[in-house]
Amino acid sequence: MGPLTLPLVISLICCVAQGSPQLRRANDRLGQCTYTFTVPSPREGTCTEPGEAMTAIRELQRDNSAVKQETDALKVRLSLLEKVVNKLLGGEATGQSISSPQAFPDAQVELERLKMEKDEWESQRGSLEMAYSDLLKEKSSLMEEKQRLTERLERVQQKQCPQVVETPRSRDQPIPSRQGPSGAGSHGGVSRPSSGQGKGGPAELSRWGADGVGYQELKSELTALPASKMFPESQSASGGPQYMGKPGCGELTWVGEPTTYRKADNIAGKYGVWMKDPESVSPFSLDTIWRINTVGADIRQVFEYEKLDQLEKGYPNKVYVVPRSMESNGAVVYRGSLYYVRRKSRIIVKYDFKTETVAIQKELPEAGFHGKYAYSWGGYTDIDLAVDELGLWVIYSTDNAKGSIVISQLDPATLEVKQSWNTTIRKQSVANAFMVCGTLYTVASYSSPTTTINYAFDTHTGVQKQISVPFQNLYGYASMVDYNPTEKKIYGWDNYNMVAYDVRLSKM
Ligand SMILES: *[C@@H]1O[C@H](CO)[C@@H](O)[C@H](O)[C@H]1NC(C)=O
Repeated sequence: MGPLTLPLVISLICCVAQGSPQLRRANDRLGQCTYTFTVPSPREGTCTEPGEAMTAIRELQRDNSAVKQETDALKVRLSLLEKVVNKLLGGEATGQSISSPQAFPDAQVELERLKMEKDEWESQRGSLEMAYSDLLKEKSSLMEEKQRLTERLERVQQKQCPQVVETPRSRDQPIPSRQGPSGAGSHGGVSRPSSGQGKGGPAELSRWGADGVGYQELKSELTALPASKMFPESQSASGGPQYMGKPGCGELTWVGEPTTYRKADNIAGKYGVWMKDPESVSPFSLDTIWRINTVGADIRQVFEYEKLDQLEKGYPNKVYVVPRSMESNGAVVYRGSLYYVRRKSRIIVKYDFKTETVAIQKELPEAGFHGKYAYSWGGYTDIDLAVDELGLWVIYSTDNAKGSIVISQLDPATLEVKQSWNTTIRKQSVANAFMVCGTLYTVASYSSPTTTINYAFDTHTGVQKQISVPFQNLYGYASMVDYNPTEKKIYGWDNYNMVAYDVRLSKM
């Protein structure tokens, strides 16, 4: 019998022994147990006639044997219990089974109780395990959230630095050299480009940051001048790049305030694409509007609106469903087709609206995708298609380019890369990019209400430079910025809102 059951035996014996002879237990000096039987004397106060002694001894023996029987029975029950306990505590170790628990109702009760206890433990363990796994899931999604926020913080911090150094730099060498004697921009008749700035007052000015106020205000006034007043048209200028022959082509100098045309009704429209086809083909027109809500994992619907009015009222003419879902919002509509990136791939798909079929699809060699080289706001904006006066472009990055923006001009019929250019601006450091007259422009921030177009790369000359053309994110989350060369407008999708900006170009 193990140490576990010894005290039990003793206490049971004590209970049994509450008859006339009494059993007492005590520890002696060595710490050993000693048991003492006390037998009441038949006659008070006297000891002990021999006959009486014999009677007492027989009585004692009888009691003793009763105790022994009882003890033996208890031993059996206890050993059974011990087995049960061992089995429950130590798993199915012994392999012994209890052959007839019916013989020992107490043991059976105990067994049932222990079984129930065991079941309860197991069910508690089950629910603890479930709670633990819930906690693990919770933890991992919190870690993801933390990671996302950390990245965003880093991007914000990265973006703040260039803005700080940019302003003094542009102040050193700004406009005067271009603009000729005595500041044409300060004369009357010049309308300010933006009523946001036009309201004036210190509060308005402070939005630009104290350091940049003078320059930004001056620049706004200057760029508000129609290009033709500052620079004579010189399309035939000898030695000038060939694209100057494109009607109205030049350098982007001013972007107006956004006009809002429509707000998406639900979360699917937090990000999106909306645009007109700058070179539309029958049966569509230059007024036809195309719209894609780009929140979600299975983006396949393209809404066609006959004109702006229908978009504003929310009456699409038709809804197309492209065969494979598209990635984020890099899509463009050009010459009656939708060009988009297939989800989780570097495959560019050309989908023809008239026949409602995929005309062609092709991998964009080396292009990073699905979050590898997204714009600063994320959203798998790795591969961004663009259209300008010169045709179809794609803005992306590769491992070879180490995350810097690569520009490729695409053949719209074959999707072959016609030519590529390496820039030195990191794709993840800018909020968006678009092409105008063969020049790439990048937007510094997707969230700042008053950010800038901060960089230009001219594919004709390979010259890149820092610029600072004010740009407004009216709703604080610009997910799409695309140029329409026919309307000379920038289309944007800013936090559920479909917006458009007027732009002005001058020559390089
Ligand atoms: C761009 O850079 C990559 C990597 O350095 C190089 O392999 C490629 O030839 C470059 N492309 C052009 C057009 O300069």
